[in-house]
Amino acid sequence: MQIKYIVSTLVALPRSSRACLHDHMRAPQLREVNAALGRREVLPAVKTAIQNVRVFDGYGIGKPQTIIIDGEYITDCDDNVKQTIDGGHRILIPGLIDSHSHVLSVEGLENMTSYGVTTIFNMACPDYQLCNSLKSNPGLASLFTTMISALGPSGGNTQLNPVLPGQQLQPGDDPDFLVDYSFGNGSNYFKIVGAPDGPTQDQQNELVDYVHSLGHFVVTHAPNSIPYTRAVSSRSDVLQHIPDDSVLPHYLFKSMKEHDLAATPTMEIFRRAYTVQPEIAKFLRGNNTGNGSYENVLDNVRRLRIAGVPILAGTDSVGSTIPIIYFPYGDSLHQELVNLVDIGMTPAEALRAATIVPAVIHRLSDRGAIRPGMRADLILLNSNPLVNISNTRDIARVWAGGVEYHNTAKLTKT
Ligand SMILES: *[C@@H]1O[C@H](CO)[C@@H](O)[C@H](O)[C@H]1NC(C)=O
Ligand SMILES: *[C@@H]1O[C@H](CO)[C@@H](O)[C@H](O)[C@H]1NC(C)=O
Ligand SMILES: *[C@@H]1O[C@H](CO)[C@@H](O)[C@H](O)[C@H]1NC(C)=O
Ligand SMILES: *[C@@H]1O[C@H](CO)[C@@H](O)[C@H](O)[C@H]1NC(C)=O
Ligand SMILES: *[C@@H]1O[C@H](CO)[C@@H](O)[C@H](O)[C@H]1NC(C)=O
Repeated sequence: MQIKYIVSTLVALPRSSRACLHDHMRAPQLREVNAALGRREVLPAVKTAIQNVRVFDGYGIGKPQTIIIDGEYITDCDDNVKQTIDGGHRILIPGLIDSHSHVLSVEGLENMTSYGVTTIFNMACPDYQLCNSLKSNPGLASLFTTMISALGPSGGNTQLNPVLPGQQLQPGDDPDFLVDYSFGNGSNYFKIVGAPDGPTQDQQNELVDYVHSLGHFVVTHAPNSIPYTRAVSSRSDVLQHIPDDSVLPHYLFKSMKEHDLAATPTMEIFRRAYTVQPEIAKFLRGNNTGNGSYENVLDNVRRLRIAGVPILAGTDSVGSTIPIIYFPYGDSLHQELVNLVDIGMTPAEALRAATIVPAVIHRLSDRGAIRPGMRADLILLNSNPLVNISNTRDIARVWAGGVEYHNTAKLTKT
């Protein structure tokens, strides 16, 4: 039951078939997560100076300098440095943020961290205790999570989601109890699952207003044109996915900009489904190809950018949680940066979409940039990502919250 929930929220394409997914899935368990956390050995952070590094400041790359790590944070105080590392004039970028993933295991956090992804927005959580255990662990990516989402009465995502008594929204229901439940159990933000038969426009508006009144933000799953349009009207803070069924009019994206909405288009799941992993498309929608296309995805993301809507890098990765559609953690975020450059972003802009932009939009004031006071979430690169965005894969070393991650992924620059 738990894993069905993951698959349903992975879905970014219209579906005509939902056969047998659960036969292939592994359910994560709280006791396994806690046992895996108990087995980890993390050396205490020592005050470290990384010398001779050229820092990416969001726009360009500076002259060689020294960055000092003290505990979890970067400091400008160079007293009592215990360890010195020669950066060899290599390039230091902030740890990357995957603004849309599904990580429910310690191995998933390890894999993300090994690729320098040090912050994860987890888009579904069937077990709040398990997700709370994964949130903040020394030397691993930090996880921010939603818990119970708002779902409509039938079809779409609803049939594959676990439904707690009274959870499934019928038209006319007051949806606020879902919000109380979700934040009462440690949710960092709230998620609405938009679908043609999902929560009604009135319910979405009510949910967004209520979550805002509590001082939190809302995201809305909206992979098709109808849910996208509704989500814009509701003023949901961050729209997840992007319609692949049609190209939306420019005025819709302008309206997003006017109302300070942001977008996490997760181009990578569409790219995989339409071009390299047809098994994903087949999973999500059986033999019905519908009217969807990757061209629609590209056109819509270009339109987001033209309108000036903040774009966040996210993947929808599920790792090996669903083995027959293996969708790797970490590596896929590096590919999303390539995808963003493909629609016209500069490499610096793509890097901002995975660092400072999601930090600001998701209200995390302690990350997304390299300067004193920020978390020491860092990636040391051998080659310059502004010359070629694929160079983000050319990783020399990674730090998560000041702790060096020693099992860094060995990547090829393709
Ligand atoms: C947290 O979740 C439990 C179910 O696991 C539920 O009974 C409880 O009401 C929730 N807490 C809040 C404050 O909503
Ligand atoms: C999809 O097509 C294959 C043959 O290409 C067929 O064996 C299968 O039954 C079809 N599935 C559905 C759900 O129609
Ligand atoms: C495809 O688009 C056509 C024309 O807009 C529409 O009539 C049809 O229902 C669509 N098919 C699907 C599967 O969405
Ligand atoms: C983590 O990465 C390893 C090596 O690529 C892979 O075999 C494993 O399935 C991944 N685990 C998860 C949970 O994705
Ligand atoms: C960037 O690097 C990749 C991998 O080495 C290569 O395939 C691609 O052609 C390069 N792009 C540019 C613009 O040089």
